[in-house]
Amino acid sequence: MNMMQHYKNWRLETDDKQILWLYLDKENSSVNTLDYNVMDEFSKIIDLLSADKATKGVIIASGKKTGFIAGADISQFTKFKDIDDAVGILKLGQTILAKLEALKIPCVAMIDGFCLGGGLELALACHYRVAEDGPKTRLGLPEVKLGIHPGWGGSVRLPKLIGAMQGMNMVMSGHTVSGKAAAKLGLIDAAVPKRQLVHAAVYYIENHLPRHKPTTLQSLSNQKFVRQILGHFMRKKLRAKVNPSHYPAPFHVLDNWELVGVEGNEAYEREAKSCGKLFFSDTCQNLVRVFFLQEQLKGLAKDSGFAPKHVHVIGAGTMGGDIAAWCALRGFNVTLQDMEPKYIAPAIKRANKLFVEKLKENNLVQHAMDRLIPDINGYGISKADVVIEAVVEDLAVKRKIFSMIESKAKPTAILATNTSSIPLDEINTVLEMPQRLVGIHFFNPVAKMQLVEVVHGAKTSDEIAEKALSFVRKLDRLPLPVKSSPGFLVNRILMPYLLESVDLLNEGVPGPVIDKAMTDFGMPMGPITLADTVGLDVCLSVATYLSQYFNTPIPDKLKQLVAQKKLGRKTGQGFYKYDKNGKQEKMDYPPYDKPLQAISDRLVLRMLNEAFACLGEGVVANGDLLDAGMVYGTGFAPFRGGPIHYAKTQGIQELYQQFILQQQSRGDKTDKFKKWENA
Ligand code: NAI
Repeated sequence: MNMMQHYKNWRLETDDKQILWLYLDKENSSVNTLDYNVMDEFSKIIDLLSADKATKGVIIASGKKTGFIAGADISQFTKFKDIDDAVGILKLGQTILAKLEALKIPCVAMIDGFCLGGGLELALACHYRVAEDGPKTRLGLPEVKLGIHPGWGGSVRLPKLIGAMQGMNMVMSGHTVSGKAAAKLGLIDAAVPKRQLVHAAVYYIENHLPRHKPTTLQSLSNQKFVRQILGHFMRKKLRAKVNPSHYPAPFHVLDNWELVGVEGNEAYEREAKSCGKLFFSDTCQNLVRVFFLQEQLKGLAKDSGFAPKHVHVIGAGTMGGDIAAWCALRGFNVTLQDMEPKYIAPAIKRANKLFVEKLKENNLVQHAMDRLIPDINGYGISKADVVIEAVVEDLAVKRKIFSMIESKAKPTAILATNTSSIPLDEINTVLEMPQRLVGIHFFNPVAKMQLVEVVHGAKTSDEIAEKALSFVRKLDRLPLPVKSSPGFLVNRILMPYLLESVDLLNEGVPGPVIDKAMTDFGMPMGPITLADTVGLDVCLSVATYLSQYFNTPIPDKLKQLVAQKKLGRKTGQGFYKYDKNGKQEKMDYPPYDKPLQAISDRLVLRMLNEAFACLGEGVVANGDLLDAGMVYGTGFAPFRGGPIHYAKTQGIQELYQQFILQQQSRGDKTDKFKKWENA
């Protein structure tokens, strides 16, 4: 038998203990994902192994530096012909993993780095699992985030292995866990330091240890009568967080488990059929679209050879402080400048909180703190590769700062502003080399918002813009190139939507009703709560600025609240009231019996109107990038695929007619929506 023949995606090595090391090293790819070819070769190897007498055990490991297996190859999701085709391919995968599980010789998954989706399903079919205990190791079944659920037995094997409470929770939420947490759950047999990983894998082969078994209570949790009781509570909890008409997948997985449990072929059969159907749901198609939009944003950052090490941030307020902290978290040396130490101290305190939350281990937190240096005198400017200005939104102040920066900075450094509204070509007039100025516009809160607009002024050089895109990727953020124009992309589209929601309030629609209409549409937060969270003073200043260009009337209600210093969550009152922990207080309001969809339609049309204007004016290069910006910059319902995609699926002509009627009823003649024709 010749098992050692050449495979395109797998590398086989037998050691002197007769252990077969099976390295997955996917052809032409920097990351291991599972596709038809990888699984086909794997199936052949398993067939040969099951007939092989000499091999004592098999260890499946990654041949890549970047993790174990990232999951199934998502590009294949769009290639299924129909539901039957999808179900057939899922069943094929299930059969291959069943053959792996049935091997007579011990089989270990040696996990170093991420082990997600199909990768974890493969590991679950192994007899043992050992993983590196470092911060890069994450294990989980995140399929629900793409609108499907596991289809290769993961939703059966996981609750069976670690009990329904933890197992179903992981499948339904898509949450990932660290190596140590996985070991605690019983999901893996051991989490060890990298230097001991090989030794641990070999140990499980050589010592014929019993396989991990769930506790009696965990086994009991999968019994029929318990499933019925537990299922009821799980569904209630799930419904409180997830809308089944937006995200059906976790509900399907729960139904399957409740009905057939985790034993026998029926459980696998049901999993494959249910997952196959979900592939063809709008939710899955749109979430897959959004996944590829994200890849598109990542791909915009070319490897320009720019390797920044030191970032200098000027202005340690809400934004500058958090930008500096994020840069230090991502491994940069950071100097943070403000006018007096008292302005920097709160930023350092917030940074410490962020590091503890993200890095957990004391020594890592300490190293991150050491990388973040307060710098009142601005000594860091001359050493920095990137200088980011985040002082008050005032043109004169910014100009003064940039002329000082240019005189001190290295000639190779990029000079960036975080301005949210001032055109770059007004700031760069003070620079000898205005082409060095680029906008790197972060969103608040910096640690949560993935999108960063990279703003290209008329004079910004392409080389500097490219360096900025690549720097943003190094921060693990998604860069969106935008033209320097009022409000750039995200704020410009968001603002008319927020102002329209205040108009609705004025017309007597209660705030909670407006918010519910939009969360029902799929927004993470309603517009009234969003305005309170951003801060009504910030909303008013952005709206005032934008209205100079777009003539958008600003509702009196907004001006009044700001004049009364009711600025939203931060002052305890805005449109709503908040307790001292910032929690929104419930408010009484008269019953509202009109359809909520009329509200969401009206608000979304406002957004679309501005979105088409942005496309027409070339603020972003195309509709896909616009959609990506709105999904990652505002949380626009991802399962709808972004505003432009939503308009296309609803029928742009019909939406346009609705918009015209809406404009007529308010006596407003402006119509930017029409730009869809040229977009
Ligand atoms: P902020 O008022 O919280 O912080 C500004 C900081 O700059 C203060 O600590 C102040 O002491 C410091 N500063 C002022 N003049 C200075 C000088 N000459 N030298 C050194 N430090 C100086 O303001 P925030 O909200 O952080 O905004 C900063 C910039 O970020 C603005 O351009 C704003 O438009 C932009 N931005 C704000 C967002 C937000 O949600 N707050 C979102 C995105 C961008």
